[in-house]
Amino acid sequence: MSTYLLFGGTGNVGRRVVARLTWAGAAVRATSRHPRTAGLPAGVEVVTPDLDAPGALDGVGAAFLMWPFHSAEPARPLVGALKRHARRVVFMTGGDARPGVAPERQPTAVARWHAALEHLIERSGIEWTILSPSTFMANPPPAVSTAVLGITGAPATPLSAWAAEHAADFGGEPR
Ligand SMILES: NC(=O)c1ccc[n+]([C@@H]2O[C@H](COP(=O)([O-])OP(=O)(O)OC[C@H]3O[C@@H](n4cnc5c(N)ncnc54)[C@H](OP(=O)(O)O)[C@@H]3O)[C@@H](O)[C@H]2O)c1
Repeated sequence: MSTYLLFGGTGNVGRRVVARLTWAGAAVRATSRHPRTAGLPAGVEVVTPDLDAPGALDGVGAAFLMWPFHSAEPARPLVGALKRHARRVVFMTGGDARPGVAPERQPTAVARWHAALEHLIERSGIEWTILSPSTFMANPPPAVSTAVLGITGAPATPLSAWAAEHAADFGGEPR
């Protein structure tokens, strides 16, 4: 049985994907910077996010990725390594990456590095699925509004005006 690799297995979405896969009896390896306190289900192999470590991708047949880094630089070796192991990659991209727009022409730094990763994955030869959520209902609206007001001087768009989604829509809940 091949292993499912969850990069960001303790996140809003990753944790739900882990739960769903373990419920289905799959072998799961999930990353966390804090493996001892990750709080993932028994049987999940919790590893640090160092996917360059020897054996980190051994047995991996499919991977779920999200991108917490402020650069697309680490993506090239990661996608290259996945190509040698995995048949399929699911990537949860950032909501502001515009489809069909080249990475360097994306409007923000976040969109640029998410789009760069999308490009790498799409051209890798691995089977891929790219999920592009808008904003999660799990996000704290008051904190976001305060931050936006502080940075821009203008009030944030009310969350109710967005197509807010729930992390469970993307992770799937065990039934
Ligand atoms: N939230 C939204 O509204 C929204 C909207 C559109 C797109 N997205 C995208 O969806 C993805 C998943 O969102 P989410 O809400 O599930 O994420 P999240 O809850 O913020 O989870 C972050 C995950 O990344 C890991 N992580 C954080 N910093 C890391 C680092 N420096 N190195 C390695 N791992 C690190 C965390 O693991 P540990 O802390 O255990 O190490 C955790 O598993 C994000 O990449 C985001 O771009 C989110």
